[in-house]
Amino acid sequence: MSNQRKTTLPADRPELSPEVMQAKQRFGIIGNSPALIAAIERAIRVAPIDLSVLVTGESGAGKEFFPKIIHQFGARKHKKYIAVNCGAIPEGTIDSELFGHEKGSFTGAIAARKGYFEEADGGTLFLDEVAELPLTTQARLLRVLETGEFLKVGSSTVQKTDVRIVAATNVDLLEAVKKGKFREDLYYRLSTIRIEVPDLHDRGDDIHLLARKFASDFSRKYMTEPITFSEEAVRSMELYRWPGNVRQLKNIVDQLALFEAGREVSRDQLLELLPLDRSGLATPTVQPHPADYEAERKMLWQLVLSLRTEVDQLRRKVEGRNADAGDPAAFEPVSSVTSLVKYPEVDVIRNAAPTTIEEAEKQTVLDTLARNNGNKRKTAEDLNISVRTLYRKLQEYEA
Ligand SMILES: Nc1ncnc2c1ncn2[C@@H]1O[C@H](COP(=O)(O)OP(=O)(O)OP(=O)(O)O)[C@@H](O)[C@H]1O
Ligand SMILES: [Mg+2]
Repeated sequence: MSNQRKTTLPADRPELSPEVMQAKQRFGIIGNSPALIAAIERAIRVAPIDLSVLVTGESGAGKEFFPKIIHQFGARKHKKYIAVNCGAIPEGTIDSELFGHEKGSFTGAIAARKGYFEEADGGTLFLDEVAELPLTTQARLLRVLETGEFLKVGSSTVQKTDVRIVAATNVDLLEAVKKGKFREDLYYRLSTIRIEVPDLHDRGDDIHLLARKFASDFSRKYMTEPITFSEEAVRSMELYRWPGNVRQLKNIVDQLALFEAGREVSRDQLLELLPLDRSGLATPTVQPHPADYEAERKMLWQLVLSLRTEVDQLRRKVEGRNADAGDPAAFEPVSSVTSLVKYPEVDVIRNAAPTTIEEAEKQTVLDTLARNNGNKRKTAEDLNISVRTLYRKLQEYEA
């Protein structure tokens, strides 16, 4: 990570080509990390050459800028640019959406319709989430990529189109090929040129740059006092894995900008919002820090205190109910239970791994009493002792 930091370009580094600066400015792309700049340069370089491009990268990494750059920096920039989210169109209508249909070709096709391949003729078609295309649609797509020809749904007349395809996915397409979900020939056809959008956590200083930008966008938009970040918060940001990439960072910064308006965000305030995921999907790579233990301790205490309140309430309820039911044992003072209930934190902390037989017995008795909400009769039954014996034991523990 520190290497990454060193190689990160300063914001106004003159080595950025005018085209890269232009692309960044035009599309509002923030960041100077070498991997991001390399991806932008690659898009600019392939733009004038009419080959298909596959944009890959994790979810939220910023793939959607790249087809726009390719369109803008190519010869098609004055023609149409159409973006289609292949994952959002129902399987039943996707062929018709992409390739159009003839009137009456299926129920509901009351008129002929142009598809995106016809609409975008001469321009660029961005096929987002391309891995979601059904296999039948993949076959049609392969044909149009290879020959420029397609058939409208319900038509036998071959139509020609001249569309440049840029596709994007956050799925490992080779894996999809192996599973038989994506055609291998289409994969090779689409990925002649690949642009890999880097993960956010590999972008060093860009993370803080983006956070600052999102914070200032938020305060401008909602007219709130801007937030700043403590050095420690910035360091944690740079260490975190950001499984949701830039989208996740924006979401976190928006929340902080709202609730901490006008303040400096501390490391703990940031960490509170970062999912410490147990499934491993979002495992943060933030190093353990003494403050973490302090925060955890605080959290445990809060938990214990709220438990105590709940147990107290429960106890009062149970005592009330038993009193109503006229259970004589329930009228007995519950002093030994009270000591357990009143100070559950002591028991949590002690969490006694008992050291003697007496202690083990005491713990069992108190646990059973607590489980029975202080009802001595039930407790005695559970322990297979008389109520009297139970009282005696409780008096001993009190002493
Ligand atoms: N470098 C960046 N500068 C500014 N904003 C960015 C940058 N990268 C991403 N974003 C913003 O982050 C959000 C997510 O980006 P985008 O929609 O392009 O992600 P994606 O890679 O297409 O993710 P998915 O695979 O989930 O569709 C968008 O709001 C986008 O504007
Ligand atoms: Mg996307």
